Amino acid sequence: MTTQALTAPVRPESLQQIPVVPISSVGFAKDMAGDPLTTVTRYCQEHGELVRAPAFGKFLVFSRHPDHMRDVLVRGTPRFYGKDTRGYGMMRKVVGLGLVTSEGDFWKRQRRIANPAFHRKRIEGWADMMTTATEDRLASWAGTIASGDPIDIQAEMMALTLRIVGETLLSVDVTGEAAEVGEAVGVVLGQVGYRTRTPWSMPEWVPTPRNLRFKRALETLDRVVLGIIEERRASGDGDDLLGMLMGMQDEETGERMTDLQLRDEAMTMFLAGHETTATNLTWTLYAISQHPEVERRLRAELDEVLGGRTPTVMDLGKLEYLDRVLKESLRLYPPVPMVARNALEDTELAGYHVPKDAYLILSTWSAHRHPDFWENPEAFDPDRFLPERIESVPRHAFMPFSLGQRKCIGDRFATMEAKLLLAMMVQGVRMALKDNHPIEFDANVTLRSKHGMPMVLRTP
Ligand code: HEM
Repeated sequence: MTTQALTAPVRPESLQQIPVVPISSVGFAKDMAGDPLTTVTRYCQEHGELVRAPAFGKFLVFSRHPDHMRDVLVRGTPRFYGKDTRGYGMMRKVVGLGLVTSEGDFWKRQRRIANPAFHRKRIEGWADMMTTATEDRLASWAGTIASGDPIDIQAEMMALTLRIVGETLLSVDVTGEAAEVGEAVGVVLGQVGYRTRTPWSMPEWVPTPRNLRFKRALETLDRVVLGIIEERRASGDGDDLLGMLMGMQDEETGERMTDLQLRDEAMTMFLAGHETTATNLTWTLYAISQHPEVERRLRAELDEVLGGRTPTVMDLGKLEYLDRVLKESLRLYPPVPMVARNALEDTELAGYHVPKDAYLILSTWSAHRHPDFWENPEAFDPDRFLPERIESVPRHAFMPFSLGQRKCIGDRFATMEAKLLLAMMVQGVRMALKDNHPIEFDANVTLRSKHGMPMVLRTP
């Protein structure tokens, strides 16, 4: 039976019980606070594809199986599963009710308004802006190349993608504030991840250094975003996403969006629209630096297709190896490593009983390494995405942008951006990870590198 087949209330007694991981709540919380990524893989490997963890009385379920991804995100949404989870609750403190966090009719309306901003033609119109921003960034590295000092590529990618999302969707130049915003985003996401995974953390009103840092970071982001809205109100509506949102009128009441609603949407785009792509690029550049053969093939393709010139949208279809490299990077280093949902009513998943108010953690990280579907899953092997090889992998086993109606609205934007930027960076420089630099994952909402990504740059 699949979730789609459900029309009548389930009879829990007719369903199997989800196996429980034999561990205490404290032991589980420690596992999650330590390494949430491998914890989920381990639980699923040892106790079943759908497993329940003791979590201080909460009904918490983990999965990494593509059928479950499909049944929850595609077939079960929005009827059986929603976004009323601890993590999303934390996110709402940052972005309020923007596209990522809102639900129901309000979300539907906002998504309808935002959709035109992400149409293919419109996105393609931003390619030149993206390549110009990348040229500027590459030029700014001249001194670093000459000195041989490492530069933190993670911070560089954040600044570059922040400029791009600002100029394309909101028509603002945030270059001057990039460092401040980048740091604030890091603090805010760190806090969201920490509080989501650490049930015993101090309440937010307690002035701990962590809570104070969070408050200050939020104030910084608010100041920047509200400043953008105020400026735009003064200058008139543009035809970018912010302009569309501002111009929108409720059909029945004629009301326009308030500054607070605009703030939530703009903040959402700021965060969702740059951090993820920057993370994707950072891990891709890391993977390339570790795999000389991948780098060699990528350079050969870029030379053949572009012959040293700046890429355009028309070139992207011909850069097939580049496409596979980026997909393989999204598989091995998914920028959003887990997706969480809550059960809205008693339901059934793959023959198991999922009670109302259960929380489901769908691990993209673990799904992308599932040994039943991915051969040699830990290897960085872009050719696994060759058409003849990928056709045997179930569709829902690869879900970097999530699935179903709540799938990422920016997937096309991000894909084009990542291709253009990666092509130019590989053309422009060679990167080598600083000697003996430790690589550890920091899975706070997104998959940052815990100790940054210092790279030594050379001309190719
Ligand atoms: C590699 C880059 C990106 C990745 C991996 C990514 C991943 C995701 C994922 C997994 C979700 C679903 C979260 C959930 O269902 O709980 C999502 C939603 C979303 N993403 Fe992205 N994203 C990326 C780039 C972008 C960009 C560039 C933008 C905007 C310019 C964006 C805007 C959004 C928005 C607004 C949503 C919420 C959509 C909705 O529910 O209607 N993302 N993204």
